[in-house]
Amino acid sequence: MTELVMPNDTNPLGNLMGGNLLRWMDIAASICAAKHCESLVVTVSVDLVSFDQPILLGEVVTLETTVTRAFNTSVEVSVQVYASNFQGGGTRKCNSAYFTFVALNEDHTTKKVPKVLAITDEEKRLYEGAIRRRQIRLIQAGKLDPKNADEIREFINR
Ligand SMILES: CC(C)(COP(=O)(O)OP(=O)(O)OC[C@H]1O[C@@H](n2cnc3c(N)ncnc32)[C@H](O)[C@@H]1OP(=O)(O)O)[C@@H](O)C(=O)NCCC(=O)NCCS
Repeated sequence: MTELVMPNDTNPLGNLMGGNLLRWMDIAASICAAKHCESLVVTVSVDLVSFDQPILLGEVVTLETTVTRAFNTSVEVSVQVYASNFQGGGTRKCNSAYFTFVALNEDHTTKKVPKVLAITDEEKRLYEGAIRRRQIRLIQAGKLDPKNADEIREFINR
């Protein structure tokens, strides 16, 4: 997804406001998740987002998304954010985050999602890490007892 930073998107310093970027990230990630799931999806969690570099008024923002792994009714989506000037120069990575979405049926009940097939080394790296990131999220949300986070324990003990 590509966006142009317009005056209404900025903070008093003239840079893209963080909340507007988060909104674009949520939209881009949800389109990616919905296409994979072929259904409605809702955001259930967003991991740490750090704003590493300001994005300036008039710059072009490119949001790249990929489904890293599907679980039972949820998928993890990686979002990478790049900024460049209008001529395509000065490209730099500004942000990244993992979003988790839950697929819903028309009646808003949760829906089983199709699996992800990781083929490239990078896809395999993201796929393998996704199970541990999911366990951290569920621990933080109070939905998983850390004692049952087997993949995290196994990773630490490697
Ligand atoms: C998302 C929602 C449908 C989940 O309903 P629920 O009854 O809690 O369903 P479950 O407990 O069965 O969880 C569903 C999935 O979400 C995952 N999940 C739940 N909480 C999570 C969290 N904090 N982080 C990551 N995943 C989470 C579960 O692990 C499960 O995934 P799985 O089936 O792949 O294992 C419900 O919480 C909801 O409607 N939330 C509001 C969504 C919304 O409005 N988003 C926009 C916010 S502005």
